[in-house]
Amino acid sequence: MKKNILITGGAGFIGSHVVRLFVNKYPEYTIVNLDKLTYAGNLENLKDIDKKPNYIFEKADICDSKAIDELFDKYQFSGVIHLAAESHVDRSISDPMAFINTNIIGTVNLLNAARKTWLTTNNEQRTTNNLFYHISTDEVYGSLSEEGMFVEETSYDPRSPYSASKASSDHLVRAYHHTYKMPVVISNCSNNYGPNQFPEKLIPLAINNIKNNKAVPVYGKGENIRDWLFVEDHANAIDLIFHNGIVGETYNIGGNNEWKNIDLIYQLCKEMDLQLGREKGTSEKLITFVKDRAGHDLRYAIDSSKIQKELGWKPSLQFEEGLRKTVEWYLKNDVWLTNIVSGDYEKYYDKQYVKR
Ligand code: NAD
Ligand code: TYD
Repeated sequence: MKKNILITGGAGFIGSHVVRLFVNKYPEYTIVNLDKLTYAGNLENLKDIDKKPNYIFEKADICDSKAIDELFDKYQFSGVIHLAAESHVDRSISDPMAFINTNIIGTVNLLNAARKTWLTTNNEQRTTNNLFYHISTDEVYGSLSEEGMFVEETSYDPRSPYSASKASSDHLVRAYHHTYKMPVVISNCSNNYGPNQFPEKLIPLAINNIKNNKAVPVYGKGENIRDWLFVEDHANAIDLIFHNGIVGETYNIGGNNEWKNIDLIYQLCKEMDLQLGREKGTSEKLITFVKDRAGHDLRYAIDSSKIQKELGWKPSLQFEEGLRKTVEWYLKNDVWLTNIVSGDYEKYYDKQYVKR
């Protein structure tokens, strides 16, 4: 029998890369993409695969427990890869409640539905066949000074409403494993970049602003440090963990690629000048230092040696190449960018799918 695999948040940035990978690589699975289509969800991200016979889209809100239970009844999922979330730190500072609802309550609704479904199958099937895979962030570990790296044993110390909501959902996933023997696995990844990222996050926001000759806002002095990973490398890690990860374990995923924000923006400006055929130094003039983010974490850095040693994963792209591909994609997909900032992609959705 074909396995039905649920991917939540598949219309978003990372989710769309995971859905594409699974639909293309595993014809033996039916991939059900469950997404509420918030401002961050965009079915245009998947238009190259949405006619494939092993792909189904279901518009639903993970906060609606009844709708979630119905979908589990309908599809009897044998695996869940949970990416749906509110994901932007700045929005979590201005509206924490949306993060509490989706990231915490939504996750518990999925855990409950999976538990109910899987309790009716026998124990052996439960551990070999059913897996609840929760996608999380390195931000749950808090903020580093100049030294050190996050390992899987690092104590949780979330400091923004976003990271606190993700930490809370990680704890709940582990609690369901310990209490109810739910087969779970968690991964915590560093900052992703690449095609399809909503232009509120640093890299696509800067690309969009530079393209339109608008100021590029750099928070504080631009001295904060992030580790950047190309999104397809994250999707490949998710594939490996879903298939070969050990139940109950956590895996850190990172690019070993730390950049001070200001240095990253200089690098991006150079790439933009090159690809837009502008004179060297043109884009840099748009850099504008603005008020710092409240509670801005100084540095994230992740030690991903566990997944490298145990599952044989490693990042495939050098940052310079990833950045070049990303800029190329955004400049080529001008309509995607214009539509997503204007909200026109909702009209695309109405035309393609009948609303439930
Ligand atoms: P995103 O904001 O681009 O996409 C989130 C998706 O979830 C959207 O399609 C949205 O419509 C959907 N969604 C939101 N609320 C929902 C709800 N209540 N019900 C159903 N669907 C809902 O996010 P992303 O950057 O792709 O992140 C995906 C996951 O990966 C998140 O769990 C995030 O915490 C995690 N993560 C992200 C990064 C990163 O750098 N972006 C790094 C590590 C981990
Ligand atoms: P972001 O892409 O929002 O990811 P996160 O906060 O989850 O790491 O931001 C990356 C870094 O860039 C972070 O240190 C905040 C900073 N930043 C700016 O300096 N200017 C901006 O306009 C944005 C969106 C972020």
